[in-house]
Amino acid sequence: MASDVAIYHGDFISSKDMDTLSVRKDAYLVAEQGIIKGIYDQVPEGCRGLPVTDYSGKLIIPAFSDLHIHASQYIQRGRGMDRLLSDWLNPYTFPQESNFRDIEYAKKIYPRVIRDLMVNGTFHAVFFTTIHYEASSYFFELLQKSGMYAFSGKVNMDMNSPDYLTEETEKSLADTERFVAEHPGDDHVKPILTPRFSPTCSMKLMNGLGRIGQKYHVGLQTHLVESLWEAQTAKDLFPDCRTDADIYEQAGLLGNGPTVFAHVIFPEDRDLELISKYNAYCVHCPDATTNIIAGIMPVHDLKNKHVSLAVGSDIGGGHRPAIYHQIARAVQLSKMKAFYEPEYKAITLANAFYMATAGGGSLFGKVGRLEEGYRFNALVLGGIADEGFPLSPEETLERFCYNGDDRNIEARYLDGKKLEVCQ
Ligand code: GUN
Ligand code: FE
Repeated sequence: MASDVAIYHGDFISSKDMDTLSVRKDAYLVAEQGIIKGIYDQVPEGCRGLPVTDYSGKLIIPAFSDLHIHASQYIQRGRGMDRLLSDWLNPYTFPQESNFRDIEYAKKIYPRVIRDLMVNGTFHAVFFTTIHYEASSYFFELLQKSGMYAFSGKVNMDMNSPDYLTEETEKSLADTERFVAEHPGDDHVKPILTPRFSPTCSMKLMNGLGRIGQKYHVGLQTHLVESLWEAQTAKDLFPDCRTDADIYEQAGLLGNGPTVFAHVIFPEDRDLELISKYNAYCVHCPDATTNIIAGIMPVHDLKNKHVSLAVGSDIGGGHRPAIYHQIARAVQLSKMKAFYEPEYKAITLANAFYMATAGGGSLFGKVGRLEEGYRFNALVLGGIADEGFPLSPEETLERFCYNGDDRNIEARYLDGKKLEVCQ
C-alpha cells in the first residue's frame, strides 16, 4: 500500500466555493493511487517515513478546465481579430476548417493542440472539431491516448454556410450517429453532439440530433446567444421557438447528457429558465468576446442565479491556449462592464479561478479541486516572484494569471502521475 501513496510538500490553493479560496501554506498533500486523501499541516501518522516530494516555496493548484475550444481553429489563432463574428467566420474560419477533409492536414494540427493545452496546464476540455468524420474520429482517438479528460464532437452544419462546408442533412445525421456509436468513449473521453449554432443548422437536423442524443445518452455543446445578431437570427430562422435555447429544448437535445453553452452573453428569460432546468454549463470566453464578439457575459448575474459557470479559450476566436490568462481577462472584462453599466458588479479573482478549476472541472467528475476524493490533477508553479520580493500564495496565483506562462508550470500531475511534456 505504501508504494501507492505519494506525499507532496508546498503551498496549496484550491477553491472552497465560488467566492472563497482555500489556502494552505507549508502543508502536505497525501494522494493514494492518484486520489487525494487530504492536505495536512504535518505528515499524517500512518505516512511517517514515506518519501516526500519537496515543492517548498512552490504553489500547487488544480489543473485547468477549458470548456470551449475549437481544436480545428488552433492554426488560425491571432488572425482576423479585427473582424466581428460573421466577417471572421466567412473569410478565415470556414475556408480553414474545410482543410480538415484531408486527414493529413488534421495530423499536422491536432497533436499540437493537445500538447499545447497540456503544457499550459489544461487537462480537461470540451472540443469542437469540424464536420469531417475521419478527422473528428482521429482527434477523438488522440485524446484517448493523451490521458486528458475531454468531451469532443463532430460539428454539424447544413445551411447558411459555404457549399464546401455544408453537409447534406441525412449525411450529417448518419455521420454523427456513426461517430457516437463507434466512439462510446471511456471514463476520460466522451462524445458530445455539436450543432455549430442555430444559424447553420436546420430544424430537421436539430430534431435528428435530438433523437441520436436520446438513443445514445449523449449531451450537447453549442454557441448560445453569443451576439445580438446570433440571438435575433435564431428567432428569425426558428419562428416556432421562443429563443435560441428553446430550439434545443424543442429538438429534444437537452437532458440526454451534459449541456455546454458557449458565451451566453445575451440570454432572455426563457434561455435562463432552460439553463437552470437542465443545469447547463455557461462558458465565458473572455478573449473571444473581445476579439470577435463584442459583448461581455453577465457573470455576476448568472452567479446570483446559481448557474454552472466555466471559462473557455474559444480558440481561434480566442488567441491563447492558456486558461490562466482567461482568469485575469474575466476579471478585467467584468470591471469594464461594471464601469459602463453601474448596476452590474465586477467579479473577483477567486470567482474566475473557481470557474477555471472547480466550476468547469465538475463537468468531468472529481477534478478541479485539491480535496479528499478528487483526482490529483495538479500543477506546481514556480519562478513567479521577483528575487528579494516574496509573494504570498494568493499573490503568486494572481501574478501567474496576469503575467505567467508555461515556463512557470514546473511540474504537472495527471491522475497522480508526473507528466513529461515537451515544451
Ligand atoms: N459561432 C459559430 N461558429 C463559431 C466559431 O467558430 N467560433 C465562435 N466563437 N463563435 C462561433
Ligand atoms: Fe466557439
